[in-house]
Amino acid sequence: MPSRTADDISARRAAELRAALEHHNYRYFVLDDPQVPDAEYDRLLRELRDLESAHPSLVTADSPTQRVGGAAADEFAEARHRQPMLSLDNAFSEEDVTAFDRRVRERLGTDAAIDYSAEPKLDGLAISVIWEHGVFTRAATRGDGVTGEDVTANVRTIPSLPLRLRGAAPALLEARGEVFMPVAGFERLNREAAARGDKVFVNPRNAAAGSLRQLDPKVTASRPLDIYFYALGALEGAPLPQRHSEVLEMLRGLGLRVSPETRRVQGVAGCLAYYAALGARRAGLPHQIDGVVYKVDDLAAQRALGFVSRAPRWAVAHKFPADEALTVVREVGFQVGRTGALTPVARLEPVFVGGVTVSNATLHNIDEIERKGLRIGDTVVVRRAGDVIPEVARVLLDRRPADAREVRLPSDCPVCGSPVERDPEAAVARCTGGYRCSAQRKERLRHFAARRALDVEGLGERLVEQLVDADLVQTPADLFQLDRATLAGLDRMGEKSADNLLAALAKARETTLPRFLFALGIREVGEATAVALAAHFGDLAALMEADLGAVQQVPDVGPVVAARVVEYFADPAHRDMIMRLREAGVRWPASAPAVAESPPPLAGLTWVLTGSLASMDRGAAEDALRALGARVSGSVSKKTDFVVAGSDAGSKLRKAEELGVRVLDEPTLLRTLETKRPPD
Ligand code: IVH
Repeated sequence: MPSRTADDISARRAAELRAALEHHNYRYFVLDDPQVPDAEYDRLLRELRDLESAHPSLVTADSPTQRVGGAAADEFAEARHRQPMLSLDNAFSEEDVTAFDRRVRERLGTDAAIDYSAEPKLDGLAISVIWEHGVFTRAATRGDGVTGEDVTANVRTIPSLPLRLRGAAPALLEARGEVFMPVAGFERLNREAAARGDKVFVNPRNAAAGSLRQLDPKVTASRPLDIYFYALGALEGAPLPQRHSEVLEMLRGLGLRVSPETRRVQGVAGCLAYYAALGARRAGLPHQIDGVVYKVDDLAAQRALGFVSRAPRWAVAHKFPADEALTVVREVGFQVGRTGALTPVARLEPVFVGGVTVSNATLHNIDEIERKGLRIGDTVVVRRAGDVIPEVARVLLDRRPADAREVRLPSDCPVCGSPVERDPEAAVARCTGGYRCSAQRKERLRHFAARRALDVEGLGERLVEQLVDADLVQTPADLFQLDRATLAGLDRMGEKSADNLLAALAKARETTLPRFLFALGIREVGEATAVALAAHFGDLAALMEADLGAVQQVPDVGPVVAARVVEYFADPAHRDMIMRLREAGVRWPASAPAVAESPPPLAGLTWVLTGSLASMDRGAAEDALRALGARVSGSVSKKTDFVVAGSDAGSKLRKAEELGVRVLDEPTLLRTLETKRPPD
């Protein structure tokens, strides 16, 4: 049949075009050595697209034309990892790296210098990508390490990701890598956003994360994302190489992009030389890195070393130091916090530091300004480490201009005009306006709604801002009086968001007494104290009537904290607010007050938690331990009974190992909390 022949010809041509496009992609993205001009590539792609639209039956899932497909989703599906996605232990100094290498050699029982694979630590998002019989089938974010989000449709749009592997493909390949946004692409994206009047991204990492978490793959496709692979998750139907460096070569051979900066080095000296060399070129790299990673190259040795908690013993991330930059202080403003505390903030000549443009830096408190001797007009060193708030690290006195001005603490609150009081004991100056001050009101509402307080989902900064500015909410009790029409009428809200917020408020009504106490935002009452107060008094009424002496009976509550608590509940405005919250249906399960006779199950045991936990917040875990009578400390000593090591655990874990303190993993901690018995 003639049409059959025509179809055959089309099918053959489509296959040819696909192979050619895959080949050019590989030359371009993996080898960085394009063979043909972009126009030729575009011509081939166009021809394939035309062919496929004339013969839709020729379209295959791995065709280079199929990068942006499918409709926008409502949410991401869950994706379970075949093997947990781990994190890395950090090293911050040469000593840390030396100690890491020593531990590796001790465990392997060798004196010889170890071969390491040294690689850039890419500052993006970890990703797991699967190809089955050479065809790209799934991409998932790390999530909690066990379950991530299925971002297949989005990762498919990344131009350098092969939809089909090159050469003889294994039955199954799961490769792990990092999705990132090159700096040039990030800057272009932000320029375009700024020109449109849209919000700009703070840094390439956030931009990459935001782009990957788009429900509509078309949006992701428009973002300049890239991907580098650095590890194997699973391999079936092909022999496993003997070295990590060979794994990287294998991945390159299959058409995956691997950082061109990876090197094999020998021993600590090789690692440190690599660190110094890459560090010197850091600013000139096309993408951001926040350190380097050293991995024991021999895979058999890796298996012998194994894992501790959620990080491998065979690898370490050697971080670059905090970024610093010079700039000039134009003005010093004062921010009013939840408890009225005035925080001085330096308004800076904008400067690019630690990967973002910084125009404000905290000065912590007024004493700090005196200690640093800072004046307006001074040239200062601004520091920004990781995601922490930028701060003024030091003042360069020899650059002080003649007209530099001293910083004065305002006598009235810059927001509400109430008098400012300076606590003679502490470094803090406070606005005395309380709920009358809109800045305090906003911060108190945000605190009340925070995840670890009443956890009102969706009540973010912008909404709180609007509610306060429109005078719709004075105290947290007013939140529960908001109606749908009012909410829906707010900026960027609409009926769906209004309903969501009302549902979130309804859910937040069911809480626990410790959370409620914490949410009130009583000065000096953090989560741990809230837990202790709740456990001791059992119910709110008893606590509200307690006098100074009674509150001081609570373990770990001293006279200062007790005074704050009594003072708080003595205020009729606070009592009224609490009553209104109760009337609005805020409630918690009743519990009996602690009985003094039988000691709590973990009494007398000192615990230290380090690293992050997968299943709960570290602070919450600490509170739970305290509630069982444990002492929780921030540092490891001979007196420590247990160290719980989460992921990213570092020096504390090492100290515990050195001192022979017992190290527990997360499941053991969870069992302890569940059974309320010390680990055996
Ligand atoms: S290896 C079992 N190599 O760093 C080890 N990770 O802190 C798994 N990262 O989640 C990680 N560059 O997102 C490895 N060359 C590299 C890396 C790298 C960046 C990220 C990765 C991981 C995090 C761990």
